[in-house]
Amino acid sequence: MFAKYHVKAQEFDPPLDWEGLFGRSGPLVVELGFGSGEFLIQNAIEHPSTNFVGFETSLTCMVKLQKSLSRLGMNNVRAVLSDGKFGLKELFRDKTVDAVYVNFPCPWPKEAHRNRRLYSKTFVDTLASVLKDQGSFHLTTDVQWYLKDTASLLIESECFSVKMSEALNKNVVSTRYEKKWLSRGKVIYTLMAVKIKSASIKRITWEDKEMPHVHLKNVCEDKVKALRDKVFHEDQESVFVVKNVYSNVDEFLLRVISSDNGFQQCYFVLIQKRGKSYIVKIDPSTIPYRTPTVKKSVFKIAEVIQS
Ligand SMILES: C[S@@+](CC[C@H](N)C(=O)[O-])C[C@H]1O[C@@H](n2cnc3c(N)ncnc32)[C@H](O)[C@@H]1O
Repeated sequence: MFAKYHVKAQEFDPPLDWEGLFGRSGPLVVELGFGSGEFLIQNAIEHPSTNFVGFETSLTCMVKLQKSLSRLGMNNVRAVLSDGKFGLKELFRDKTVDAVYVNFPCPWPKEAHRNRRLYSKTFVDTLASVLKDQGSFHLTTDVQWYLKDTASLLIESECFSVKMSEALNKNVVSTRYEKKWLSRGKVIYTLMAVKIKSASIKRITWEDKEMPHVHLKNVCEDKVKALRDKVFHEDQESVFVVKNVYSNVDEFLLRVISSDNGFQQCYFVLIQKRGKSYIVKIDPSTIPYRTPTVKKSVFKIAEVIQS
């Protein structure tokens, strides 16, 4: 019943055909971290001819949004359960997005958590790439330093014209977090950046879209079992670890966590006997984005378990 709203982006070849997924063309607006979905729903109601895409990392929020969309019978919203930074970069073609909204992002104030913040040079380059000319980025937050840091990066890029403002005791986006901070007397800060120049970015999932798999004549069981807790650290940007090894008659299932430049995924690699040989591949129960590290993990595991 809710399936039409949830886009399982990992199952498609990137970039996604958003017009195909909506079944129509129209302006494209993206919200990162939609939370309870108030902003997405309100805007989708007010702009029925616009296609809205939301990203969230919380399954609870995702389910809540789908229920609301279904109850309201809406057709112009789709949602992806993924890191919004990664999604915006990998799932959209250049110059196809009209506007990107972020409302009350988690600020991650500790220096040790800096990498978890939404803004970075890569994020700004992504905006300057996927937004149409004159497309806009909108940030609303209660954290002034967060807004200023984001503004500095946008200005430094020379790709945006930036405007900032403050709102006291006033609803700007009417989300759950806005209500919470206003009720505590906080000031709400907003930023709007209009794209004036493009940037180019490299996508890590757009080339070589093959599902990684390897056929092996023989597999050494001891070598498979020895993979538990083994870390493969190719370079700074690419790391994977085999967290667990489960065995069954004629097959092994390896739980793997990979990181591509900080973008983490968890999935299973299956080693399965097929007649007299073996196949090593991603287990279909957990489909990750096919990043360079995900592909590397399948090939490397196959390399080290051969007998
Ligand atoms: C502080 S809440 C704000 C929610 C909503 N925008 C609002 O104004 O009420 C931040 C939301 O961002 C989501 N989030 C955090 N990191 C994210 C990421 N990298 N990509 C997508 N969503 C993310 C969290 O799960 C959470 O729902």
